[in-house]
Amino acid sequence: MRNWIFAGMLILGGANLALAAEAPAKAQACVACHGQAGVSISPEFPNLAGQHATYLANQITAFRDGTRANPAMAPFVAGLSDADIGALAAYYSAQAPATAANGDATLVSAGESLSGYCKACHGMAGVPVADEWPVLAGQQAAYLQKQLAAFKSGERINPLMQAAIAHLGDPEYKALAAYYSQLAP
Ligand code: HEC
Ligand code: HEC
Repeated sequence: MRNWIFAGMLILGGANLALAAEAPAKAQACVACHGQAGVSISPEFPNLAGQHATYLANQITAFRDGTRANPAMAPFVAGLSDADIGALAAYYSAQAPATAANGDATLVSAGESLSGYCKACHGMAGVPVADEWPVLAGQQAAYLQKQLAAFKSGERINPLMQAAIAHLGDPEYKALAAYYSQLAP
């Protein structure tokens, strides 16, 4: 197991090696939903493993400060300092990513056709260049679909995303989620 994690860290790049070998103590509060190494236990919960560190830190901060609202997450991040958040983000971003592959196979090709709208920001295969933008490849399908609907309804706010997906609706979100969940990160 350690060798496997180590190999994953090498692939992801040496920069995180020193920081992220051991889980920070505060990660114990996350295990029940996000797994020991950031691969979640349910398609409703996002994988954190291999996600971009700046994106993770921004999201944890947003939950803590209430700018991204979710009753399941809020109590677990309420007491975190900025330093805690930085350590958690570094740890999870350095873990080996998983492919959720839990989208409906019949929707994948429809999602692939729609994904042209997304590539400018999320990359050709769901891995964006910018560290503050999320990796979509391998993410849980049910989670991705829910986030797209949340941006559409304004429950989750980001002007770039809201503009990008406003012309689409639930059938397209489902197809896009299926497509991205089965890409290898
Ligand atoms: C009780 C289950 C639960 C626990 C415990 C939990 N989370 Fe979460 N987490 C969730 C759910 C559910 C979401 C998705 C929220 C939504 O739909 O917006 C989420 C979302 C996130 C996200 C956003 C990921 C993304 O791709 O945008 C991050 C980052 C995160 N959690 C980090 C943590 C950390 C760090 C801890 C521990 C300090 C933690 N979570 C504890 C359930 C949990
Ligand atoms: C103009 C750039 C841009 C485009 C185009 C774009 N996105 Fe995004 N996307 C973002 C940014 C920035 C975020 C992070 C938002 C935040 O910080 O809350 C994001 C977040 C997301 C998330 C949330 C991921 C998570 O882990 O919670 C999903 C899902 C998503 N985008 C899917 C898509 C899909 C599907 C398309 C194409 C239909 C698309 N995006 C097009 C910039 C973009």
